[in-house]
Amino acid sequence: MLNDRSESPAQGAASSTLQTLRGEIDRVDDAILELIEQRLAASSAVAASKDAEGDGRLKLRPRREAEVIGRLAARSDAPRDLIAQVWRTLMSHGLQAQARTEIVVCAGRDRLSLYEMVRGRFGPAAPVRWVKDPAEAIEAARSGEAVAVISDHFAIDAGDDGLIVFDTIEEKDGKPVARCVGRVAPEDAIESHVSPRAIPRRAPWQPASWRQRPAAQMPVYPDAASLGRVEGRLAASDPLVDVHDIMLLRAQLAQVAAGRGFMLQGGDCAESFAEFGADKVRTTFNLLLRMGAMLQSGADIPIVHLARIAGQFAKPRSAATETVGEIILPSYRGDAVNGPDFTRASRTPDPKRLLEAHRQAEVTIELLDAFAAASYADLRRIHNEAGIQADVRPISMFTSHEALLLNYEQALARFDQATESWWATSGHLIWIGDRTRSLDGAHVEFARGVANPVGLKCGPSLDIDSLLRLIDVLDPQNQPGRLVLIGRFGAGAIADTLPEMMRATRREGRHAIWSIDPMHGNTRSVGAIKTRVISDIVTEITTFFEVARAEQVHPGGVHLEMTGEAVTECLGGSAALVEADLPRNYLTHCDPRLNAAQALDVAAAVRALLEGN
Ligand code: PEP
Ligand code: CO
Repeated sequence: MLNDRSESPAQGAASSTLQTLRGEIDRVDDAILELIEQRLAASSAVAASKDAEGDGRLKLRPRREAEVIGRLAARSDAPRDLIAQVWRTLMSHGLQAQARTEIVVCAGRDRLSLYEMVRGRFGPAAPVRWVKDPAEAIEAARSGEAVAVISDHFAIDAGDDGLIVFDTIEEKDGKPVARCVGRVAPEDAIESHVSPRAIPRRAPWQPASWRQRPAAQMPVYPDAASLGRVEGRLAASDPLVDVHDIMLLRAQLAQVAAGRGFMLQGGDCAESFAEFGADKVRTTFNLLLRMGAMLQSGADIPIVHLARIAGQFAKPRSAATETVGEIILPSYRGDAVNGPDFTRASRTPDPKRLLEAHRQAEVTIELLDAFAAASYADLRRIHNEAGIQADVRPISMFTSHEALLLNYEQALARFDQATESWWATSGHLIWIGDRTRSLDGAHVEFARGVANPVGLKCGPSLDIDSLLRLIDVLDPQNQPGRLVLIGRFGAGAIADTLPEMMRATRREGRHAIWSIDPMHGNTRSVGAIKTRVISDIVTEITTFFEVARAEQVHPGGVHLEMTGEAVTECLGGSAALVEADLPRNYLTHCDPRLNAAQALDVAAAVRALLEGN
């Protein structure tokens, strides 16, 4: 009788096969061990001969390591990961046997995932140390046996002291996560482009490359064919603004960036089709000019005038839909998108509105040019008659708007042969709103590729890492006049938020201009009415100047929502508007604007701050 525990003949055969196989594995392990010993011996021999060559410090051979792993993986069916891990381990011990070499990591935020990737890249034998400051990691690589691994959150300045960016740590999908900096001979580096300043790599830019990315706040057009026709017509139209004028603005903003100028940007929250007319454009023009003259008298620096006009027809909204009773309709997103009336017909996004916005922008720009020419002629005549010698310069009134509707922006982007660049010809300066400034989003992607000056709204939710990454993407070459950071925090929040941001841009040697929008962080509700209080606006501007002074940053401009008309939308100021006044002449379709008197009050406050600067 066979008891339960005894083996059947078949089981006996299986266990002897198993034993044979185990014996086989043991033999292979012994052979591997011997080979490992041989490999270690050979690599110490290589190390000894490197020392004999006199350059004891060049121990890292990233290109050769990658080639070894690549060659082995190519000739084997074993998983590539396995081969990479085994040989990274061997190489890692080999390197440490030559000299203890630290991996000094500066991680930004995603410390844990970067840790795994660093281990994957440098193997288990390397001691890993964490530092907060990229400069500290670079210093370790410069002064000792170390590799600096620096998260792409930070720009890298490896200097020229024999250090180079020699490799990139990437995610599985190829997205760069960190750069490796060390003392590596250039021909041994994996990165072919050895730049002292490592900028996260992106696919090449095209006017349409934003379409590959998530686009926040864009309307959904039910009629795609109509949208296509509209895009075609816009693409065939003449540029709204001249590339030369955009370049002139860039040159003037470069002066602002150097502390020799101040930006005055202002106009409607949203332009509308219904309120359009030559008078309206003239009052905006005149108001900006008057305010500019006031600022000029307080500061001995040129004032750059920028109107929020000729393209400011689209608004980001906090909710995509609006509900009244039982009815849910798309939110009103500005006249370039849909109509304000709460009916389905009016609220359905209609691409033809882009053509109407474009036509209005065209006429507006013609009017602005005519007013500028007339003012120049007037001023010359007045000076001549009065015998005033001071030279009269032509007035430039530049246009600006939020580049929210990317179909429109793309259709108006033009390549200029002379500058070999793409330009947004929808306006001189375009900006990215606080709600569409996602680093990987469509709006940042579009703006990075055009050569215009670009504004970036910076609200309290923007963290320092993201700010620096956005600057890297939007202004990789750190060109004065390219980027305007427009803070909009609110009178209560600015003192907590702005100092660290300014410190970061200053520490990084960034030439981006800092300007302040004291409107969008200071909106309050009085019942169902949105309003803003002049004292909040002046407080935010004053704090902006104080922080800038403390951080040794040039306070480069103000950005206001205002109109030349006598509206009653904001409270306070010398007109002393109170809550009961609000309904009297509350016209805005969107945010509350300063009226002319209030705008001049704010200008007076800015003049005083410029005088004290
Ligand atoms: C605006 O400037 O009209 C605007 C919507 O601002 P933000 O993006 O800063 O909210
Ligand atoms: Co607004």
